[in-house]
Amino acid sequence: MSAVRALTVEPGRKGSLSLEEIDEPVPGEGELLVDAIALGVCGTDRELADGDYGWAPAGSDRLVIGHESLGRVREAPEGSGFAPGDLVVGVVRRPDPEPCGACERGLFDNCRNGDYTERGIKELDGFGSEAWTIEADYAVKLDPALAEIGVLMEPMSVIAKAWEQIDKVGGRSWFEPKSVLVTGAGPIGLLAALVGARRGLEVHVLDRNTEGPKPKLVEALGGVYHTDGIADAIAGTEPDIVIEATGAVSLVLDSMTATGPYGVTCLTGVTTAGRKASVDAGSLNRELVLENDAVVGSVNANLSHFTEAAAILADADHDWLQGLITRRIPLADYTETFGPTSGDDVKVVIDIAS
Ligand code: BGC
Repeated sequence: MSAVRALTVEPGRKGSLSLEEIDEPVPGEGELLVDAIALGVCGTDRELADGDYGWAPAGSDRLVIGHESLGRVREAPEGSGFAPGDLVVGVVRRPDPEPCGACERGLFDNCRNGDYTERGIKELDGFGSEAWTIEADYAVKLDPALAEIGVLMEPMSVIAKAWEQIDKVGGRSWFEPKSVLVTGAGPIGLLAALVGARRGLEVHVLDRNTEGPKPKLVEALGGVYHTDGIADAIAGTEPDIVIEATGAVSLVLDSMTATGPYGVTCLTGVTTAGRKASVDAGSLNRELVLENDAVVGSVNANLSHFTEAAAILADADHDWLQGLITRRIPLADYTETFGPTSGDDVKVVIDIAS
Protein backbone atom coordinates (compact mmCIF):
# COMPACT_ATOMS: atom_id res chain seq x y z
CA MET A 1 0.00 0.00 0.00
CA SER A 2 1.39 3.41 -0.89
CA ALA A 3 1.61 6.29 1.52
CA VAL A 4 0.50 9.90 1.17
CA ARG A 5 1.39 12.98 3.16
CA ALA A 6 -1.40 14.32 5.35
CA LEU A 7 -1.84 17.28 7.69
CA THR A 8 -3.00 15.96 11.04
CA VAL A 9 -3.72 17.20 14.54
CA GLU A 10 -4.37 15.57 17.84
CA PRO A 11 -7.58 17.41 18.67
CA GLY A 12 -7.34 19.37 21.88
CA ARG A 13 -3.52 19.43 21.89
CA LYS A 14 -1.99 22.74 20.86
CA GLY A 15 1.12 22.34 18.73
CA SER A 16 0.16 18.87 17.51
CA LEU A 17 -0.28 19.92 13.87
CA SER A 18 2.08 17.89 11.72
CA LEU A 19 2.67 16.59 8.24
CA GLU A 20 2.83 12.83 8.40
CA GLU A 21 2.67 9.84 6.11
CA ILE A 22 -0.54 7.86 6.21
CA ASP A 23 -1.73 4.92 4.14
CA GLU A 24 -3.31 6.10 0.94
CA PRO A 25 -7.08 5.94 1.49
CA VAL A 26 -8.88 3.13 -0.31
CA PRO A 27 -12.26 4.02 -1.84
CA GLY A 28 -15.19 2.03 -0.49
CA GLU A 29 -18.26 1.12 -2.51
CA GLY A 30 -19.73 4.15 -4.28
CA GLU A 31 -16.69 6.27 -3.47
CA LEU A 32 -14.29 8.26 -5.61
CA LEU A 33 -10.52 8.33 -5.18
CA VAL A 34 -9.36 11.91 -5.60
CA ASP A 35 -5.89 13.44 -6.02
CA ALA A 36 -5.79 16.65 -4.04
CA ILE A 37 -4.98 19.89 -5.84
CA ALA A 38 -5.32 22.47 -3.11
CA LEU A 39 -6.66 23.07 0.37
CA GLY A 40 -8.02 26.31 1.77
CA VAL A 41 -7.21 27.24 5.36
CA CYS A 42 -9.64 29.16 7.55
CA GLY A 43 -10.15 30.20 11.17
CA THR A 44 -11.56 26.77 12.05
CA ASP A 45 -8.30 25.14 10.89
CA ARG A 46 -6.36 27.56 13.08
CA GLU A 47 -8.58 26.63 16.02
CA LEU A 48 -7.85 22.96 15.27
CA ALA A 49 -4.11 23.67 15.20
CA ASP A 50 -4.42 25.59 18.48
CA GLY A 51 -6.17 22.66 20.14
CA ASP A 52 -9.34 24.67 20.66
CA TYR A 53 -11.71 22.67 18.44
CA GLY A 54 -12.06 19.37 16.64
CA TRP A 55 -12.73 15.70 17.31
CA ALA A 56 -10.74 12.68 16.07
CA PRO A 57 -12.47 9.76 14.35
CA ALA A 58 -13.64 7.00 16.72
CA GLY A 59 -10.74 4.80 17.76
CA SER A 60 -8.06 7.28 16.73
CA ASP A 61 -6.36 10.16 18.47
CA ARG A 62 -5.42 11.97 15.25
CA LEU A 63 -7.58 13.77 12.72
CA VAL A 64 -6.60 14.59 9.14
CA ILE A 65 -7.64 18.23 8.90
CA GLY A 66 -8.87 20.21 5.90
CA HIS A 67 -12.43 20.96 4.81
CA GLU A 68 -11.90 23.46 1.95
CA SER A 69 -11.04 20.96 -0.75
CA LEU A 70 -10.25 20.83 -4.43
CA GLY A 71 -9.11 17.72 -6.24
CA ARG A 72 -9.17 15.72 -9.43
CA VAL A 73 -10.86 12.33 -9.66
CA ARG A 74 -8.39 9.46 -10.14
CA GLU A 75 -10.89 6.60 -9.90
CA ALA A 76 -14.67 6.65 -10.06
CA PRO A 77 -17.12 3.75 -9.90
CA GLU A 78 -19.13 2.95 -13.01
CA GLY A 79 -22.43 4.85 -13.05
CA SER A 80 -21.34 7.31 -10.34
CA GLY A 81 -21.68 10.29 -12.65
CA PHE A 82 -17.95 11.02 -12.24
CA ALA A 83 -14.99 10.13 -14.42
CA PRO A 84 -11.22 10.30 -13.98
CA GLY A 85 -10.03 13.86 -14.56
CA ASP A 86 -13.16 15.56 -13.17
CA LEU A 87 -12.53 18.49 -10.89
CA VAL A 88 -14.32 17.92 -7.57
CA VAL A 89 -14.92 19.36 -4.14
CA GLY A 90 -16.20 17.44 -1.13
CA VAL A 91 -19.22 18.40 0.97
CA VAL A 92 -18.05 18.88 4.57
CA ARG A 93 -20.90 17.70 6.79
CA ARG A 94 -22.63 14.33 7.06
CA PRO A 95 -26.02 13.75 8.69
CA ASP A 96 -26.19 12.50 12.23
CA PRO A 97 -26.74 8.74 12.40
CA GLU A 98 -30.12 8.98 14.14
CA PRO A 99 -31.05 11.10 12.04
CA CYS A 100 -32.86 14.24 13.25
CA GLY A 101 -35.70 15.62 11.14
CA ALA A 102 -33.41 18.07 9.35
CA CYS A 103 -30.69 15.51 8.59
CA GLU A 104 -33.34 13.06 7.39
CA ARG A 105 -34.27 15.62 4.74
CA GLY A 106 -30.70 16.34 3.60
CA LEU A 107 -30.71 19.58 5.60
CA PHE A 108 -27.79 18.45 7.76
CA ASP A 109 -26.42 21.99 7.78
CA ASN A 110 -29.29 22.69 10.19
CA CYS A 111 -28.82 19.50 12.28
CA ARG A 112 -30.77 19.68 15.53
CA ASN A 113 -29.02 17.22 17.81
CA GLY A 114 -25.39 18.13 17.12
CA ASP A 115 -24.46 14.53 16.28
CA TYR A 116 -23.53 15.41 12.69
CA THR A 117 -19.96 14.72 11.59
CA GLU A 118 -17.68 16.93 9.47
CA ARG A 119 -14.74 16.06 7.23
CA GLY A 120 -11.57 17.52 8.69
CA ILE A 121 -13.31 18.91 11.79
CA LYS A 122 -15.54 16.47 13.61
CA GLU A 123 -14.89 12.72 13.72
CA LEU A 124 -14.15 12.28 9.99
CA ASP A 125 -10.76 12.68 8.36
CA GLY A 126 -10.59 15.69 6.10
CA PHE A 127 -9.19 16.59 2.71
CA GLY A 128 -5.72 17.69 3.85
CA SER A 129 -3.89 14.76 2.28
CA GLU A 130 -2.38 14.12 -1.14
CA ALA A 131 -5.23 11.75 -1.95
CA TRP A 132 -8.66 11.38 -0.37
CA THR A 133 -11.83 9.42 -0.92
CA ILE A 134 -15.39 10.66 -0.98
CA GLU A 135 -18.85 9.20 -1.43
CA ALA A 136 -19.99 10.14 -4.97
CA ASP A 137 -23.18 11.52 -3.37
CA TYR A 138 -21.16 14.08 -1.42
CA ALA A 139 -18.85 15.14 -4.25
CA VAL A 140 -19.62 18.18 -6.39
CA LYS A 141 -18.27 18.45 -9.92
CA LEU A 142 -16.77 21.77 -10.97
CA ASP A 143 -16.45 23.50 -14.30
CA PRO A 144 -13.00 22.52 -15.66
CA ALA A 145 -12.15 26.25 -15.85
CA LEU A 146 -12.10 26.38 -12.03
CA ALA A 147 -8.85 24.44 -11.50
CA GLU A 148 -7.14 27.53 -10.04
CA ILE A 149 -9.98 28.92 -7.95
CA GLY A 150 -12.29 26.00 -7.19
CA VAL A 151 -10.72 25.85 -3.74
CA LEU A 152 -13.03 28.78 -2.90
CA MET A 153 -16.03 26.43 -3.20
CA GLU A 154 -16.48 25.63 0.49
CA PRO A 155 -16.52 29.26 1.68
CA MET A 156 -18.77 30.07 -1.30
CA SER A 157 -21.17 27.31 -0.18
CA VAL A 158 -21.30 28.85 3.30
CA ILE A 159 -22.26 32.15 1.68
CA ALA A 160 -24.83 30.52 -0.62
CA LYS A 161 -26.48 29.19 2.52
CA ALA A 162 -26.26 32.53 4.35
CA TRP A 163 -27.98 34.36 1.47
CA GLU A 164 -30.65 31.66 1.32
CA GLN A 165 -31.32 32.14 5.05
CA ILE A 166 -31.55 35.91 4.54
CA ASP A 167 -34.07 35.41 1.74
CA LYS A 168 -36.13 33.04 3.86
CA VAL A 169 -36.13 35.32 6.90
CA GLY A 170 -36.87 38.37 4.75
CA GLY A 171 -39.61 36.41 2.98
CA ARG A 172 -41.86 36.52 6.06
CA SER A 173 -43.25 39.81 4.68
CA TRP A 174 -42.63 42.14 1.73
CA PHE A 175 -38.87 42.21 1.15
CA GLU A 176 -37.14 43.92 -1.74
CA PRO A 177 -33.71 44.77 -0.32
CA LYS A 178 -31.65 47.49 -1.98
CA SER A 179 -28.45 47.50 0.05
CA VAL A 180 -26.16 45.26 2.06
CA LEU A 181 -23.38 46.00 4.52
CA VAL A 182 -20.79 43.28 4.95
CA THR A 183 -18.58 43.54 8.02
CA GLY A 184 -15.15 42.01 7.42
CA ALA A 185 -13.34 41.76 4.09
CA GLY A 186 -11.99 38.25 4.59
CA PRO A 187 -12.91 35.45 2.16
CA ILE A 188 -16.41 35.03 3.61
CA GLY A 189 -17.09 38.77 3.64
CA LEU A 190 -15.82 39.33 0.12
CA LEU A 191 -17.73 36.36 -1.29
CA ALA A 192 -20.85 37.71 0.46
CA ALA A 193 -20.19 41.07 -1.19
CA LEU A 194 -19.77 39.35 -4.57
CA VAL A 195 -23.22 37.78 -4.26
CA GLY A 196 -24.69 41.12 -3.11
CA ALA A 197 -23.26 42.80 -6.21
CA ARG A 198 -24.54 40.01 -8.47
CA ARG A 199 -27.99 40.64 -7.02
CA GLY A 200 -27.76 44.28 -8.00
CA LEU A 201 -27.61 45.55 -4.40
CA GLU A 202 -25.71 48.60 -3.25
CA VAL A 203 -22.75 46.97 -1.52
CA HIS A 204 -20.84 48.37 1.46
CA VAL A 205 -17.94 46.54 3.09
CA LEU A 206 -16.40 47.48 6.42
CA ASP A 207 -12.89 46.36 7.37
CA ARG A 208 -9.91 47.59 9.37
CA ASN A 209 -7.32 47.45 6.59
CA THR A 210 -6.81 50.65 4.68
CA GLU A 211 -4.27 49.13 2.30
CA GLY A 212 -3.57 45.85 0.52
CA PRO A 213 -5.90 44.09 -1.94
CA LYS A 214 -9.18 44.43 -0.02
CA PRO A 215 -10.20 47.98 -0.97
CA LYS A 216 -9.56 47.26 -4.65
CA LEU A 217 -11.48 43.99 -4.55
CA VAL A 218 -14.52 45.80 -3.14
CA GLU A 219 -14.22 48.65 -5.61
CA ALA A 220 -14.01 46.15 -8.48
CA LEU A 221 -17.45 44.92 -7.41
CA GLY A 222 -18.77 48.46 -7.59
CA GLY A 223 -18.97 48.48 -3.79
CA VAL A 224 -17.96 51.09 -1.23
CA TYR A 225 -15.12 50.20 1.15
CA HIS A 226 -15.25 51.65 4.67
CA THR A 227 -12.61 51.68 7.39
CA ASP A 228 -14.00 54.19 9.90
CA GLY A 229 -16.31 51.97 11.89
CA ILE A 230 -19.87 50.80 11.50
CA ALA A 231 -21.56 54.10 12.35
CA ASP A 232 -19.71 55.74 9.49
CA ALA A 233 -20.38 52.80 7.16
CA ILE A 234 -24.15 53.07 7.58
CA ALA A 235 -24.37 56.85 7.65
CA GLY A 236 -26.53 57.82 4.70
CA THR A 237 -27.61 54.27 3.86
CA GLU A 238 -29.33 52.19 6.46
CA PRO A 239 -28.73 48.80 4.87
CA ASP A 240 -31.58 46.32 4.47
CA ILE A 241 -29.17 43.48 5.13
CA VAL A 242 -26.03 43.15 7.23
CA ILE A 243 -23.78 40.13 6.85
CA GLU A 244 -21.43 39.95 9.82
CA ALA A 245 -18.25 38.10 8.90
CA THR A 246 -15.74 39.08 11.59
CA GLY A 247 -17.07 37.45 14.76
CA ALA A 248 -15.63 40.45 16.65
CA VAL A 249 -18.05 40.77 19.55
CA SER A 250 -18.63 44.50 19.60
CA LEU A 251 -19.19 44.50 15.84
CA VAL A 252 -21.52 41.53 16.18
CA LEU A 253 -23.63 43.51 18.65
CA ASP A 254 -23.53 46.69 16.59
CA SER A 255 -24.45 44.81 13.41
CA MET A 256 -27.78 43.77 14.94
CA THR A 257 -29.02 47.36 14.99
CA ALA A 258 -27.21 48.58 11.88
CA THR A 259 -30.05 47.79 9.49
CA GLY A 260 -32.98 49.92 8.48
CA PRO A 261 -36.51 48.81 9.49
CA TYR A 262 -37.37 45.18 8.71
CA GLY A 263 -33.66 44.51 8.36
CA VAL A 264 -32.01 41.13 8.41
CA THR A 265 -28.65 40.66 10.09
CA CYS A 266 -26.95 37.38 9.30
CA LEU A 267 -24.13 36.29 11.62
CA THR A 268 -21.51 34.06 10.02
CA GLY A 269 -18.39 34.59 12.16
CA VAL A 270 -17.54 32.03 14.81
CA THR A 271 -16.45 33.67 18.05
CA THR A 272 -14.32 32.28 20.83
CA ALA A 273 -16.44 31.76 23.94
CA GLY A 274 -15.67 34.08 26.84
CA ARG A 275 -15.29 37.24 24.76
CA LYS A 276 -17.28 39.95 26.52
CA ALA A 277 -18.67 43.29 25.43
CA SER A 278 -21.08 45.61 27.17
CA VAL A 279 -24.37 46.23 25.51
CA ASP A 280 -27.37 48.51 26.04
CA ALA A 281 -29.79 45.61 25.98
CA GLY A 282 -32.73 47.97 26.32
CA SER A 283 -31.93 49.80 23.10
CA LEU A 284 -31.04 46.59 21.31
CA ASN A 285 -34.33 44.94 22.18
CA ARG A 286 -36.35 48.09 21.55
CA GLU A 287 -34.91 48.52 18.07
CA LEU A 288 -35.29 44.86 17.07
CA VAL A 289 -38.92 44.86 18.20
CA LEU A 290 -40.02 48.26 16.93
CA GLU A 291 -38.40 47.67 13.53
CA ASN A 292 -39.36 44.01 13.07
CA ASP A 293 -35.66 43.33 12.64
CA ALA A 294 -34.32 39.78 12.51
CA VAL A 295 -30.97 38.30 13.43
CA VAL A 296 -30.09 34.88 12.05
CA GLY A 297 -27.02 32.75 12.59
CA SER A 298 -25.80 30.63 9.69
CA VAL A 299 -23.20 27.88 9.56
CA ASN A 300 -22.11 25.17 7.16
CA ALA A 301 -23.86 24.24 3.89
CA ASN A 302 -25.74 21.31 2.43
CA LEU A 303 -25.43 19.76 -1.01
CA SER A 304 -27.80 22.27 -2.62
CA HIS A 305 -25.62 25.17 -1.41
CA PHE A 306 -22.49 23.49 -2.81
CA THR A 307 -24.23 23.04 -6.14
CA GLU A 308 -25.25 26.70 -6.15
CA ALA A 309 -21.71 27.71 -5.16
CA ALA A 310 -20.32 25.78 -8.14
CA ALA A 311 -22.66 27.68 -10.47
CA ILE A 312 -21.75 31.07 -8.95
CA LEU A 313 -18.00 30.40 -9.19
CA ALA A 314 -18.30 29.23 -12.79
CA ASP A 315 -20.21 32.35 -13.75
CA ALA A 316 -18.32 35.00 -11.72
CA ASP A 317 -15.25 36.95 -12.84
CA HIS A 318 -12.39 34.46 -12.47
CA ASP A 319 -9.72 37.16 -12.27
CA TRP A 320 -11.54 38.75 -9.35
CA LEU A 321 -11.80 35.37 -7.61
CA GLN A 322 -8.06 34.77 -8.20
CA GLY A 323 -7.47 38.03 -6.37
CA LEU A 324 -8.94 36.50 -3.21
CA ILE A 325 -6.17 33.88 -3.11
CA THR A 326 -3.32 36.01 -1.86
CA ARG A 327 -0.84 33.24 -1.02
CA ARG A 328 -0.28 29.69 -2.24
CA ILE A 329 2.01 27.67 0.02
CA PRO A 330 3.48 24.28 -0.89
CA LEU A 331 2.34 21.46 1.41
CA ALA A 332 5.85 21.01 2.83
CA ASP A 333 5.76 24.62 4.08
CA TYR A 334 2.33 24.26 5.71
CA THR A 335 3.48 25.92 8.95
CA GLU A 336 3.58 29.26 7.10
CA THR A 337 -0.15 28.94 6.51
CA PHE A 338 -0.83 28.69 10.22
CA GLY A 339 1.49 31.52 11.18
CA PRO A 340 0.42 35.12 11.65
CA THR A 341 -1.77 36.53 8.89
CA SER A 342 -1.38 40.06 7.66
CA GLY A 343 -4.02 42.50 6.48
CA ASP A 344 -2.78 41.79 2.98
CA ASP A 345 -4.01 38.22 3.16
CA VAL A 346 -7.47 37.27 2.06
CA LYS A 347 -7.37 33.51 1.47
CA VAL A 348 -4.24 31.46 2.04
CA VAL A 349 -4.21 28.15 0.20
CA ILE A 350 -1.99 25.09 0.51
CA ASP A 351 -0.91 23.87 -2.89
CA ILE A 352 -0.98 20.12 -2.54
CA ALA A 353 -0.38 19.07 -6.13
CA SER A 354 2.79 21.12 -6.58
C1 BGC B 1 -16.87 25.35 8.22
C2 BGC B 1 -18.25 24.75 8.38
C3 BGC B 1 -18.37 24.06 9.71
C4 BGC B 1 -17.98 24.99 10.81
C5 BGC B 1 -18.10 24.39 12.19
C6 BGC B 1 -16.52 26.18 9.42
O1 BGC B 1 -15.22 26.64 9.30
O2 BGC B 1 -16.83 26.15 7.07
O3 BGC B 1 -18.48 23.84 7.34
O4 BGC B 1 -19.69 23.62 9.88
O5 BGC B 1 -16.66 25.43 10.60
O6 BGC B 1 -17.38 23.20 12.37
